[in-house]
Amino acid sequence: MALYLVTGAAGFIGSNLVRALLARAEQVRGLDNFATGKPENLAELRSQIDFWESDILDPEAVRAAMEGVDFVLHQAALGSVPRSIADPARSNRVNVEGTLNVLVAARDAKVRRLVHASSSSVYGDTPTLPKREDMPPNPISPYSVSKLAAELYVRTFHRVYGLPTVCLRYFNIFGPRQLWDSQYSAVLAKFITRMLQGETCTIFGDGEQSRDFTYVENAVSANLLAATAPIDQVAGRFFNIATGTRISLNRAVTLLRGLTGYEGPVVHAPDRAGDVKHALADIGLAEKHLDYEPEVDFEEGLKRTVAWYREQSAARMVSA
Ligand code: UD1
Repeated sequence: MALYLVTGAAGFIGSNLVRALLARAEQVRGLDNFATGKPENLAELRSQIDFWESDILDPEAVRAAMEGVDFVLHQAALGSVPRSIADPARSNRVNVEGTLNVLVAARDAKVRRLVHASSSSVYGDTPTLPKREDMPPNPISPYSVSKLAAELYVRTFHRVYGLPTVCLRYFNIFGPRQLWDSQYSAVLAKFITRMLQGETCTIFGDGEQSRDFTYVENAVSANLLAATAPIDQVAGRFFNIATGTRISLNRAVTLLRGLTGYEGPVVHAPDRAGDVKHALADIGLAEKHLDYEPEVDFEEGLKRTVAWYREQSAARMVSA
C-alpha cells in the first residue's frame, strides 16, 4: 500500500481523487486550508484519511506533511481567470510559491513521483486547434501565467534535482463537488445550480466560445495513470487531459435546459477580460504514454453532474 499526499484534498478535483484512492485501498493524506475547498467534500471520509488543515504557503507544514509520502498529487491552487485579474498577487502566491514549497518538500522527502495539476490556459488564445503539448505557450491572464510558471518550476525540479514529475494540463474539468456558490465558480457548476434554482444565467459574449469540457472522472483516472506509468515515458513531461471534443457554451446551455427543465431567459454580457475563445485538446500524447482514454463523454458527464447537484439541493431543502 502506497501513501498518497493529495494537496487541495477538500477541493473539487482533490476530493474526487481521495475517493478514488480510497476505493483502491490506498493510504491517503490530505492537505487543505479550506480557502476554496469545503469540509463537506470530505465529510464521510475524514476518519479514513490522515487530514491536515494546512496551507501550501507554509513551507514547514508542507515539509511535515510530506514525511513518508510515496506519491504527491498536487491539486491545491487558486482557480479562475477573473479571480486572478482581481488579485494577481494572490493567485501568483498560491499557484507559484505554493507549488514551489510543495516541490522543495517533495524533493527533500525523495517522493517516488509528483503529479502536478496544470491547465489548458497556458496555451492562451492562439488560433491553432487542437492544442498539442509541443505548441509554444501564450498565456493571456495572470492565472495562466501562474499555471505556466508553476509548470516550469515542476519541469525544472525534474531537470535539476531529478524529481520524477508529471504535469497534467486539465481542460475545463467539471463534475460533482465543483464549487458552485462563488462568483469565481466555473461556468457549468454555476449554470447548473442557477438553472435548478430557476435563476437566470449570464453568458459573457455571444456564447459561441467553446471548451473541451472534461468530466472529473477522466481527470482522476489521468492522475492515477500518471502516478504509475513507466517513469521513462512520463518524467518531466506535460500531457493534455481532456476529451478531444469541443462544445460551445450555447450548446451546453441548450443541453442544460433539457436536463434541468429551466425555461427562463439567459442573458448576455460583454466578453470577459482574459477569456480564451476556443479550447480543444489533442490527447494523443496522453493516450500513448499514460494509456489515458476519456471514459466519460461530455453529455454523460453533464447528466451525472446535474443529477448530483439536484440531489444536493433536495437534501438542502429537506434539512432546511
Ligand atoms: C480556465 C481554463 C481551465 C481551468 C480554469 C480554472 C482555458 C481555456 N480554460 O477556464 O482549463 O481549469 O480556467 O479556473 O483557459 N462564462 C460565462 N458566464 C459565467 C461564467 C463563465 O459566460 O457566468 C464563460 C467564460 O467567459 C468562458 C467560459 O464560460 O468563456 C468558461 O469559463 P470558466 O468556467 O470560468 O472557465 P475558463 O476560464 O475557460
